[in-house]
Amino acid sequence: MTGRRGLSVDVHLGPADIAAALKGDARRGLLAHPKELPPKWFYDELGSLLFEAITRLPEYYPGRREREILRHHAGDVAALSGADTVVELGSGSSDKTRVLLDAMAGVGLRRFVPFDVSEVTLRSAGAAIAGAYPGVEVQGVVGDFERHLGVLPSGGRRLVVFLGGTIGNLLPEQRKVFLTEVAAGMERGDALLLGTDLVKDPARLVAAYDDAVGVTAAFNRNVLAVLNRELGADFVPPRYAHAVDWNVEDERIEMYLRSMGDQEVALPAIETSVAFADGEEMRTEVSAKFRRSGVEAELGSVGLEVQRWWTDAAGDYALSLSTR
Ligand code: SAH
Ligand code: AVI
Repeated sequence: MTGRRGLSVDVHLGPADIAAALKGDARRGLLAHPKELPPKWFYDELGSLLFEAITRLPEYYPGRREREILRHHAGDVAALSGADTVVELGSGSSDKTRVLLDAMAGVGLRRFVPFDVSEVTLRSAGAAIAGAYPGVEVQGVVGDFERHLGVLPSGGRRLVVFLGGTIGNLLPEQRKVFLTEVAAGMERGDALLLGTDLVKDPARLVAAYDDAVGVTAAFNRNVLAVLNRELGADFVPPRYAHAVDWNVEDERIEMYLRSMGDQEVALPAIETSVAFADGEEMRTEVSAKFRRSGVEAELGSVGLEVQRWWTDAAGDYALSLSTR
């Protein structure tokens, strides 16, 4: 653990673990048919900055909608949860979370536990929060929320928050495992605040993931730069087009990188090379969109009951508060 007054950071995913996990995911995903990569590899330092830029795009509404709901209901969340500890999964910049921390700081908030796969993002967000909330102990954890939920510090009355709609980036079977573990880690009295983007007009959804200036395209292609740097691969990112589909049946956005031409890529760290045919698509992200009934059912199946359901005025996005 490293730290200074008010901030400590526990690293459960160091450079060697990241290299090993990325090698495994690259081997599995690039040798599969069709090819795919898990979205967690977007978030190196540049990828995290590109995501922040996405949240400021006119087409990308989820962050603004979530902030609107937090502005209206952070006081309710503080009062209903009675928590002294906020654990934030996939915390990123923790910027919107401040709306919640502001509401809770005056009513007993003692500890903030941001948890993220991106160490550089977590350290800078943790330091900023520790500076802004001097009475709050910030205990950052660097880890993968699909592998390391068990290392979260215990104690206190906890509010677990998972914002941004990041739950939608997990496939249904991954969501089930994840939610089972989140629920298992909750004591009686703890609560979960979950952000979910809602099903809406597909044209708006596609525009949110295929913005006019190409920030999302750069975010998507950044995963190739991560593979080049970490695995010594020789992807040429401009040779892959950013592609976005609305999957009607599964009600999710899917992002792909589409090969422009036949190409062969070397991946020395996993002692292999991979061929891409012209037009071949590699899926890099799913972003599921939800309905209230589905969220209640998924939470219910792991023993969590939705106590409150809040949406923004336009009904684009929802925050739910649930308990065991
Ligand atoms: N919660 C913030 C950030 C959302 S972006 C918001 O609402 O704006 C998604 C965040 O989840 C990124 O910071 C990314 O690094 C993190 N993340 C993605 N996959 C992860 C994983 N498997 N484990 C931990 N963090 C993850
Ligand atoms: C972090 N996550 C919820 C974002 C989303 O909307 O699925 C990631 C993202 N991908 C493209 N744009 C934003």
